[in-house]
Amino acid sequence: MILPTQATVSPGRRRRLARLAEQTRANPPADLAAAIRNDLGVNLSARYGGLSLPHPFGKASGQLSTTILQVEADAAAGIAFVVLKTVIAEDESGHRAMEAWTVRETRMKVEKRRSAGGREGWTVTWKGRGWHGSLAEYREFFERSLAVARGRDVPVIPSVKYHLPQGGEPFREEEYRHTTQTLLDVWNRAGCGGPMLLEKDFSPTLAGDDRAKQRDSILRWLFEVPHLIQAAAPGRTRVGMKLMNALFDDRFQVEMVRAALPAHPAFLVVFNRLFDPEWKVAFGGYDLSDRNLRVLDALLALPDASLPPLCATGNICSGRMMVEYALRGAESGQVHTFFQVPLSEYTATGGSRTARALHTLMLHPDEGLVMWLWHLNEHNLLPERSGEIRFLDLVTEE
Ligand SMILES: Cc1cc2nc3c(=O)[nH]c(=O)nc-3n(C[C@H](O)[C@H](O)[C@H](O)COP(=O)(O)O)c2cc1C
Repeated sequence: MILPTQATVSPGRRRRLARLAEQTRANPPADLAAAIRNDLGVNLSARYGGLSLPHPFGKASGQLSTTILQVEADAAAGIAFVVLKTVIAEDESGHRAMEAWTVRETRMKVEKRRSAGGREGWTVTWKGRGWHGSLAEYREFFERSLAVARGRDVPVIPSVKYHLPQGGEPFREEEYRHTTQTLLDVWNRAGCGGPMLLEKDFSPTLAGDDRAKQRDSILRWLFEVPHLIQAAAPGRTRVGMKLMNALFDDRFQVEMVRAALPAHPAFLVVFNRLFDPEWKVAFGGYDLSDRNLRVLDALLALPDASLPPLCATGNICSGRMMVEYALRGAESGQVHTFFQVPLSEYTATGGSRTARALHTLMLHPDEGLVMWLWHLNEHNLLPERSGEIRFLDLVTEE
């Protein structure tokens, strides 16, 4: 389904939304989703890797989840989940086959970007890669992050870049084992219980790397990697594969997803940023969401389409974009760029950046999630159930 340019919603509903937006604008509460449910009858509950969430918006792995202060502020603002910056896997002796991904960050630049289709969006230009520190440092970061987020019941998820071999080279299984077990040890000691959720990052810089030039190599990684992580700690992890956008066409992107399925990843994150091989930078904006939505459409059109749960990423700068992804199966979304746009883009006038961004994603009068769920309801595409409209009904038909 392609959403129209503007949501058409009854004036009464618009007024109720404006009232709640106004009441919460100066200091958006951490439980904004609960206020939306009570006042507006819209249930934003979502899911990530099998976990229930109060709303679909989480923090994507990256530069905004590298410090305890960031995690603490996000939890206080009511983020749905936080994926920590990607750590580079190590073996017991500290050796890292993907060492080249540990470079220190440069300054990030938030820029407008016009897509091939002519729409202006936002992108963050940055020439960094993974977590620059060691696994030991990350372990401490993970432990402290779990501790600060637990009081608010906000899931914290580690992200890892494990070894990806070139050609027929073997996988360095010792790095898989040591890294997974190190993180699991933190998870268990924190008393989290149950299997540990974990994202495996296939990043855009990887897409531009020599090792990703061979289609066969990429397909081999996608098939083998979930097995290797699962084998490192049988039955104790739930692995989400965050897939890159490879430098090949949409058809190959579909093939990549299909290659990942036989290993039964717990969920997929679809899809990380595009890579510009000429400028050697990753980018986002509408080129990214157009591509991601197109590929998801192609996947859904397959006769045997049976996908694991999906979490979307890519240009989620509005509730409307979250709806576009949900209509293609995403139960939640992870956001990076929208937390970095100028403050004037937000509907809230107070609170942390995260709180202001969440307020905008949910309550924007034209682009917000509530407005678009109401639009679908008023066009008979999202029926009310037990007196409320539910975000997850976009994804799951019961
Ligand atoms: C500066 C920057 C650093 C990032 N670092 C990582 C990373 O370490 N691991 C990862 O999985 N994704 C990383 N990403 C990708 C984001 O998590 C996100 O999936 C992507 O930017 C698309 O979302 P967006 O359009 O909201 O930015 C990074 C993105 C940016 C902009």
